[in-house]
Amino acid sequence: MKVFVIGSGGREHALVWKLAQSPHVTEMWCAPGNAGIEQEHLRNGKKVLCANIAADDLETLLACAQMNKIDLTVVGPDNPLALGIVDLFQANDLKIWGVNQKAAQFESSKVFSQRFMEKYGIPTAAAGTFTNVGAAKKFAARLGRCVVKADGLALGKGVLICANAAEAERAVDEIMVSKTFGSAGARVVIQEFLEGIEVSMHALCDGKTAKIFPTSQDHKRALDGDLGLNTGGMGTYSPTPFLTDAQLAETARRVLEPFMRGCVEEGIDYRGILYPGVMLTKDGPKILEFNARFGDPETQVYLTRLENDLVELLDASASGTLGKMELKWSPQASVCVVMASGGYPGNYAKAKVIDGIDAANALPQTKVFHAGTALKDGQIVTAGGRVLGVTALGNDLKLAQAAAYSAVEKIHFEGAQFRRDIAAKAMA
Ligand code: AMP
Ligand code: GLY
Repeated sequence: MKVFVIGSGGREHALVWKLAQSPHVTEMWCAPGNAGIEQEHLRNGKKVLCANIAADDLETLLACAQMNKIDLTVVGPDNPLALGIVDLFQANDLKIWGVNQKAAQFESSKVFSQRFMEKYGIPTAAAGTFTNVGAAKKFAARLGRCVVKADGLALGKGVLICANAAEAERAVDEIMVSKTFGSAGARVVIQEFLEGIEVSMHALCDGKTAKIFPTSQDHKRALDGDLGLNTGGMGTYSPTPFLTDAQLAETARRVLEPFMRGCVEEGIDYRGILYPGVMLTKDGPKILEFNARFGDPETQVYLTRLENDLVELLDASASGTLGKMELKWSPQASVCVVMASGGYPGNYAKAKVIDGIDAANALPQTKVFHAGTALKDGQIVTAGGRVLGVTALGNDLKLAQAAAYSAVEKIHFEGAQFRRDIAAKAMA
């Protein structure tokens, strides 16, 4: 089977690494990929080939898939999904894994998601959706502490947490009047502020069935103790101790059953990952938002724990035959520590030489996933904000955490920054 992976981050390296372990795969391409993806090999010894095509250049990706007679394309990032890559490939009789454009609306429109949750009784924050500035401000003033969200994709920056009505007024102005996030801010969702522990849920769906993953937790802020600016995610671990298996199953029932039923009623064929952001509040779990793709860096901890053949799972998700499959997870814990460029998420330098990746990979049950890396004059150099996702398994979270940080210590590049408290909340 010839497999084609779209994307270039740590999530995509984890997907490539796991897919490459499948005996079904005879050839693999990735576009655009990164320096770590280019070093991966299949079981038959062949190298993974990277094609320098941007993840949102749908026509060129299609041409590449056709030329190489790809059997299964796997999409990592949200952008090509929102642009309709799945619909385009399917119209050309190519099998592709990921949500179609209609289903991608769960991520590309927060207004759409909020209304859907309310219509189908999915537990969420009390909220309103607005196109009118005055009405938005009035609603926010009633809530006081609240969260104002631009409707569309805004590179993860369109969510403003407001302590009071005055801050909320400024947030509404920033999004709807100053149009800081462009057309993504033509509409807003305003949610009550929810207190609690935030966890990531993932479920693999095939249009009829949804299979829940164990929980994981991301660390969004740049600095230890959840201080500093919001980032794409500075580290993850799985499982979390905050939900028992029974509570997770109950949450899945309260979220996934109405979700799948709503999709059928609305004519949405949801095949791909559903990744809800969940707040565990004193009144139970509530959904903050839906993503329609794998989380990054959640994927790194999930795929190091997953025992199934990922090609078989994604193929079943795309084909609508997931009902027969059982997801199998290692009982071990996994921790991923992101090493980022100094200055990230603000300005940062690139092309810093990275040392010690091989030494880190040589440690037991350790895998260094590349995110923003490139090959320059035979050396691996930094090429992005998030550079590496240093991931390790252990018999419990404490051991996995210690193993991940031992690996981090082996790796050096100028300006490297990382959080020292990934998974600490689980042991507090
Ligand atoms: P979102 O992209 O909608 O998940 O929001 C980004 C982040 O803002 C989340 O990961 C939460 O940490 C925070 N957030 C979003 N909505 C709420 C809410 N209603 N209450 C508290 N925090 C929130
Ligand atoms: N882990 C954050 C995200 O993928 O959006």
